[in-house]
Amino acid sequence: MCGIIGYIGGGNAAREVYQGLKRLEYRGYDSAGGAFLNGDELVVVKKQGRVEKLLPFIDGLRATAGIGHTRWATHGAPSDGNAHPHTVGDISVVHNGIIENYAELKSELVADGAVFVSDTDSEVIAHLLNKFYDGDLAYAMKKTVDMLEGSYAILAVRRGVQRIYAACNKSPLIIGYGDGENFCASDEPALAGKCDGISVLDDGDFAEISAEGVIIYDGDMQAVIREISPNLAVCENLGLGDCPHYMLKEIREVPLSVTQTVKAFAGAEQKLKAAFAGVDRIILTGCGTAYHAALLGKRYFEIFAKIPAETEIASEFRYKNPVIGKNTAVIAVSQSGETADTVEAARLARGLGARVIAVTNSRRSQLNRVADAVVPVAAGVEICVAATKSYTGQVAALLACAFAVAGYSYAEKAGVFGNIAELCGKVIENIDASSLAHLCSRSRGVYFLGRDLDYAVALEGSLKLKEISYVPGEGYPAGELKHGTLALIDENTVSVFLITDERLAGKCANAVEQVVSRGGRAAVITNVNGVPEKLPECVEHIILLPECEPYLAPFLTAVAVQTLAYRTAVILNRDPDKPRNLAKSVTVE
Ligand code: M6R
Repeated sequence: MCGIIGYIGGGNAAREVYQGLKRLEYRGYDSAGGAFLNGDELVVVKKQGRVEKLLPFIDGLRATAGIGHTRWATHGAPSDGNAHPHTVGDISVVHNGIIENYAELKSELVADGAVFVSDTDSEVIAHLLNKFYDGDLAYAMKKTVDMLEGSYAILAVRRGVQRIYAACNKSPLIIGYGDGENFCASDEPALAGKCDGISVLDDGDFAEISAEGVIIYDGDMQAVIREISPNLAVCENLGLGDCPHYMLKEIREVPLSVTQTVKAFAGAEQKLKAAFAGVDRIILTGCGTAYHAALLGKRYFEIFAKIPAETEIASEFRYKNPVIGKNTAVIAVSQSGETADTVEAARLARGLGARVIAVTNSRRSQLNRVADAVVPVAAGVEICVAATKSYTGQVAALLACAFAVAGYSYAEKAGVFGNIAELCGKVIENIDASSLAHLCSRSRGVYFLGRDLDYAVALEGSLKLKEISYVPGEGYPAGELKHGTLALIDENTVSVFLITDERLAGKCANAVEQVVSRGGRAAVITNVNGVPEKLPECVEHIILLPECEPYLAPFLTAVAVQTLAYRTAVILNRDPDKPRNLAKSVTVE
């Protein structure tokens, strides 16, 4: 899963490709590269590491066309050699996706004398294009993709041919139409400010792109027209402001994410209600942080709408032969709307007759296209790989959905969200997680524990900490501690308890006792009156949050655990915005 970009026209192709790659870096950042038509030459530059590494090598080019790639390694370690483009003969290729039958294809090509120089699946595409090329790259592309199994968005250029050739299947590819120049890219944000109109290619489509125009073909190589719609991606101010990292900036934007999301919900309410007519069962699905938001959404639907709700991790859901009826609503939660596991889960649910509702921070994504109704998350662009403001935006959107399905009007509940935003603002302003972060940074394991809604946030706290600080740990239901996990506790572990529900506070305090009496270090994040007094004296860290209704507390504890993770990562000198081995958007299964 990676980002790809192509440019052809009268501008500076090297600069355009570079800028596009910078905007696509969230899709992967372990290596980057480009191939440029520079006069009669085909110039290929590829480097392990971030996109910036390309700049010194492409700065002086006067290229008229180029293709670029930013990589998240699937096959083959991050290295210069495994970086894209892959070049065979005079043809260079960039690829996003996974070629599932690459091993068979490679054996056949090697038997024919091909010499492979990388460990990637993608290199087979370059060999096939070279093999099938007989003066027509469009034809070679068709012959090549006929051999491929799996997912792909491919761009190819050939020395001396002023064209970019594209093909896609189950990996997104869009065309951007400019004036005397044209673009193609993995997604719309890569083209922010670059062109007014875009088309989304269908699975199986091909495109031949020149400075003068774009011809799109379907899988049978028949010319087709794909709708041109306005490019909605805007050049937002994506600077850091006075923050050292995007993660901190985005945590500070949590209140805005909540208020904007709820404002945007007003426009989606009627469609959502229509999609829910007659629904008697809800399945919420997503991956990672989005799944954790779904866990809270499940409880909101049960508490307010009184509809039985379940959650399923999207990557598991698909392979379970799910039982789905026409009165089942499947709510797919995804920041990017491009997560392959979630998109495919939604597709499957739709195929089985469910009503599919997308809860997403993307205005135009694969998930939006699959869904019957879209509930927008208006968190704004999230740059940090670790989800923060998009998570609270998702939770706000799910709470708004539950209210709407329960029959509350938007006006009746608007005040609730204003209150949440205000309280989150107070937490952001006052929280001091530094000393607890120091303790976590020195620990062998950090366990986040809570019950009911606190457990859902405990899972998220644990994921956030692992993701950006690399300190191991888990999230557990506090009541389960005594059924096994307690064996892990010793003086080198930290247990962080979330306690925001008065009904469960006494029982959670017992679990704290169980930890400290075994020599474990404990911390408590709470907003329940009287809890600090009930805790053993040796609880070193107590973070107090403002009081609120228990169902609203996840917004506040989320900000607290996000801040704790951020501080821990900074103490350990990690880059919280670009954690190792990860990418923001995971478009492969
Ligand atoms: O774009 P999505 O919300 O579908 O992404 C799902 C997960 O990959 C994502 O939430 C991931 O877990 C985050 N990096 C966690 O911070």
